Amino acid sequence: MNERILLGITASAAAFKGVALASLLRMEGFEVDGILTMNALKFVTDTQLACVTGRPVFSSLFTDQPGDHVPHISLTDDCSLLVVAPATANYIAKTANGIADDLLTSVFLANEAPVVMAPAMNTRMWENPVTDENVAKLRNRGVTFAGPSKGRLACGTMGEGRMMEPVEILSICLRILSGNN
Ligand SMILES: Cc1cc2nc3c(=O)[nH]c(=O)nc-3n(C[C@H](O)[C@H](O)[C@H](O)COP(=O)(O)O)c2cc1C
Repeated sequence: MNERILLGITASAAAFKGVALASLLRMEGFEVDGILTMNALKFVTDTQLACVTGRPVFSSLFTDQPGDHVPHISLTDDCSLLVVAPATANYIAKTANGIADDLLTSVFLANEAPVVMAPAMNTRMWENPVTDENVAKLRNRGVTFAGPSKGRLACGTMGEGRMMEPVEILSICLRILSGNN
């Protein structure tokens, strides 16, 4: 059986790049289970992501799927990697502080596999001391941060906070999965 990766996409202007990353992971032969936060559904659709992953996409903590009433646990069973790309300031803040009030934050708490987060946000949000503290907390707990890069942002400014390109995130994921992190 192929290795399975959990790919979370949060509500950033860069959400479409998360779908592109799903496609790259599939091309590498991984099974990809996609999770969209409820707010991410404003940016990309579950159908769009399912077309790329070829599997159902999850957003809700509560499911009426027969036999699976706790998706935040079943999704994290035997997964090889959790990658959240893009990761909003909100998602970083919640996970740094143990908040699990939706599917993707609950998955973070239940997950035992390595975690990669690719932040994407406005430069002022990225440079805010509270974001800095949250990133430091997660780094100390073993989360790998892919980026952000410097460049043009969705708000029209230039600066740090641009999501790393999917192909670069892919190589970080492959390095971690090969044990060379
Ligand atoms: C058009 C638009 C673009 C946004 N882009 C970002 C972003 O790139 N990064 C970020 O941290 N927040 C961004 N936000 C704010 C988040 O969507 C907001 O904090 C939301 O609560 C995050 O939800 P989630 O973390 O549950 O997905 C954006 C909001 C809007 C309306």
